[in-house]
Amino acid sequence: MAGVPREQWTSKRGFVLAAIGSAVGLGNMWRFSYLAAENGGAAFVFLYLLATLVVGLPVLLAELVLGRGSQKSPIQALAHYGGQRWKPLGLLFVVTGLLILSYYAVIAGWAVRYGLAAITSGFDPDAAAHFAEVASGADAFAFHVVFMALTIFVVVGGVSRGIERTSMVLMPLLFALVVGLALYAATLSGASAGYAYYLAPDFSKLLSLNVLKDATGQAFFSLSLGMGALLTFASYLGRDVNLPRAAGIIAGADIAIAFIAGLVVFPLIFALDLSADVGASTVGALFITLPKAFAEMGGVGRGIGILFFAALIVGALTSAISLLEVVVSSAIDNFGWSRRRAGILLGIAITALGAPSAWNTDILGAVDQIANNILLLGGGLALSIFVGWVMAGPIEEVSAGTSGASWFGSWRNLLRYAVPLFLSFVLIYDAIPSTFETILALF
Ligand code: TRP
Repeated sequence: MAGVPREQWTSKRGFVLAAIGSAVGLGNMWRFSYLAAENGGAAFVFLYLLATLVVGLPVLLAELVLGRGSQKSPIQALAHYGGQRWKPLGLLFVVTGLLILSYYAVIAGWAVRYGLAAITSGFDPDAAAHFAEVASGADAFAFHVVFMALTIFVVVGGVSRGIERTSMVLMPLLFALVVGLALYAATLSGASAGYAYYLAPDFSKLLSLNVLKDATGQAFFSLSLGMGALLTFASYLGRDVNLPRAAGIIAGADIAIAFIAGLVVFPLIFALDLSADVGASTVGALFITLPKAFAEMGGVGRGIGILFFAALIVGALTSAISLLEVVVSSAIDNFGWSRRRAGILLGIAITALGAPSAWNTDILGAVDQIANNILLLGGGLALSIFVGWVMAGPIEEVSAGTSGASWFGSWRNLLRYAVPLFLSFVLIYDAIPSTFETILALF
C-alpha cells in the first residue's frame, strides 16, 4: 500500500492495556452478571471458565497470530494467508462489528444517562418504571448518540495517540473502581447470601446444554472474539511481542474483572433482598435491580452508584473503541480512506443502525442473541479452521517473540479438531434453534 507506514503501538504495555480494554466492558458487568443470575450462579461461572480456557484462549491466540503476521485488518489479513476466497469472511467480521457496536452503544448510553442522573438528582426508587421509561425511545437514542460521539472521537485520534493513550489512563482506573466496589460490597450485611448464590453451584444446571451455550457465547463476547477485534489490534504489533503471554494476560484480566464484578453485584442484590427481581432477569437486570439497591441505600448508595456507573462507562468506552476500530481500519486498508473520514462516516452509519435497538429493548436483546450465539461463535469456528488448516506457518508466527515451546503444536491441534468440534456442536444443537425462537418471539 502506498506511502503511509502502518501505525504501531508505542509500547507493549499500551497494546496489552488496549486489548484488555477491548475485552473488559459491558460483557463483564452487565452481561456476565445477568447470565450468571439466570443460569444458576456458580454452575454458569464454572462453564464460562471452562469455555474461556479451552475454546476462548486458543481462538484469542489465533486472532493475535493472524493480525500480527499479516499486519492487516481482517479482510486483508484473511486474503493475505488464504487468498481472495477468504475475503467474505473478513467482510462478515466487519458487518458483525457494525451490528454489535450499534446496540452496545445503546446500552452504554443507558449507563451514561444513569451516571449523569445519579450525579444531578440521585436514583429513582421506582427503578423498573424508570428503566421502562428511559431504556427506549428518543432519550435512549440521544444518549446513544452521545456515547457514539465519544467513541468516534477516540478512534479518530489514532492507534497510539487515541486508543493507546485512552486505555493507559482508563484501564487502571477501571480496575481500581471495580476492586474498591467489591471491597465495599463485602461489608454489607447480606453479602454472604450473595456470595452463596454466586459461588455455590446448582449442579443440575451444570449439565444443561442451554447453560453451556450461554457460557460459550459469553466467553466469546467477553474476550472480544470471533470478529477480528483483537486481530486488528495485533496488526499494529511488532514481531518482538510474546503473543502467548499477551493472550494469557488478556484472558486472565478479563476473567478477573468479570469475577470481581460478580462480587460487587450479588452482595448488593442480596443485601437489599432484591433477589426475586433478578430471577426475572432480562437485559435490563443491571439497570433495574442495582439502581433500586442504590436508591434504598440513601446517600452512600448514591456515591457508590456513581462509582459503579463510572466503571461501567469506562469499560464500555474502551470496548466500543475496539469495535469501531475494526470497521475503521478496514475502510482505511480497503478503500484508502483517511482515519478521520472513516471514523466519522462509519461512526454515523453505526449510530443510525442502532436506532431500532434504541427504540425497542426486545429488538436489542434479539440482535445481541444473534450477534453472539451465531455470528461470533460462527466467526470463531471459521477462524479456528482457518488458522488450524489453511494458514501457512502459524507455529512460526506464534513463536516469534518467544523462546519457543513444545505446546505450540498442541495449540494448533486444538484449533484443528477440538475447537471446531465444540463450536459446531454448540452452534448446531442449540444456538441456531434458540435464535430462531428469539426472532419468532418478536412477532
Ligand atoms: N468484550 C467486550 C465486553 O465484554 C465487548 C466487545 C468489544 C466485543 N469488542 C468486541 C465483543 C468484539 C465481541 C467482539 O463488553
